[in-house]
Amino acid sequence: MTKKTIFSGMRPTGRLQLGNLLGALDNWVKLQDDYRCLFGVVDWHALTTAYEDPSQLQENTYQMVIDWLSAGLDPEKSIIFRQSDVKGHAELHLLLSMITPLSWLERVPTYKDQIQQLKEKNLGTYGFLGYPLLMAADILLYRAETVPVGEDQVPHLEITREIARRFNYLYQTDYFPEPETMLNEVKILPGIDGRKMSKSYGNTIDMSEAPDEVRKKVRQMVTDPGRIRKDDPGNPDVCTVYAFHSIFNAEELAEVERACRRGEIGCVQCKNRLADRLTAFLAPIYEKRQALEGQLDYIRDILQEGAKRASVIAEQTMDEVREIVNLKL
Ligand code: AMP
Ligand code: TRP
Repeated sequence: MTKKTIFSGMRPTGRLQLGNLLGALDNWVKLQDDYRCLFGVVDWHALTTAYEDPSQLQENTYQMVIDWLSAGLDPEKSIIFRQSDVKGHAELHLLLSMITPLSWLERVPTYKDQIQQLKEKNLGTYGFLGYPLLMAADILLYRAETVPVGEDQVPHLEITREIARRFNYLYQTDYFPEPETMLNEVKILPGIDGRKMSKSYGNTIDMSEAPDEVRKKVRQMVTDPGRIRKDDPGNPDVCTVYAFHSIFNAEELAEVERACRRGEIGCVQCKNRLADRLTAFLAPIYEKRQALEGQLDYIRDILQEGAKRASVIAEQTMDEVREIVNLKL
């Protein structure tokens, strides 16, 4: 039986945080045995917002792949590569741009959102409008059936399916499958301030953070604001520390909840317990990273080998697509 194909990617914007790990990467690691997996460092996507200062792109690419390997991605099992090394992404993006109505791109909710949120950057560019289309090209280039991502990417998968349908309809084919979104159990991980964990909010715990730093960040986490003294009864439903316990400390969860509601455990003590769990969870990742740091030649080899393997699949798709749109002589 042939395995189903998975594609997913992340923009190389620096070290990954726990939201990336719990929202997406963790899932990728689990899927490696049962699917044909391709994971792309989508550096062209990073350029759509970082075009004014691309100086960190290379370094960020290395650091992100190190994070991926530290979490358990295995280049023997998965194809790990860089988008800009496989030119088919650009060619398919161009061909799809011919059939994509502008209005579809303008109404993707992340489009206006991001322009609002990143006011200091000029995102009134052609490339940024095309962000979801480039993402559709990434996925369709491998005719991937399943795309494991965090919840914020759902609208991008929707437009990818619309584009696949439009291509199939216009050229009377069923060439492109409509890819499905695969979400992880943790949909949105909160940051230490309770909002969604995100680098742009400055509320992250990095995957590769040293244990001391992790403890420091846990101490800064917001708890139930109604709780003043340590024996006041607390409300776990509005507490970020409790949200983390529910992910990282399932065994003690019921007990933590009971003790908090009765005011039997103070926030400091509760945070210490969480920090123990979290540092234990991150220890193997941290160790693996220590061993990989500085091994840039090894990372480059993985990416080159990955690009070769991805290119074989991509070239075959492009050959068939050129045939479908009558570009062959
Ligand atoms: P980004 O760094 O925003 O490009 O995200 C890379 C991947 O991590 C995407 O699949 C996101 O959906 C996921 N992700 C990022 N932040 C979070 C979060 N706080 N909770 C859950 N998933 C997240
Ligand atoms: N837009 C995704 C993000 O910000 C990254 C991405 C680009 C992607 N191309 C993709 C994810 C294709 C899945 C499939 O996280």
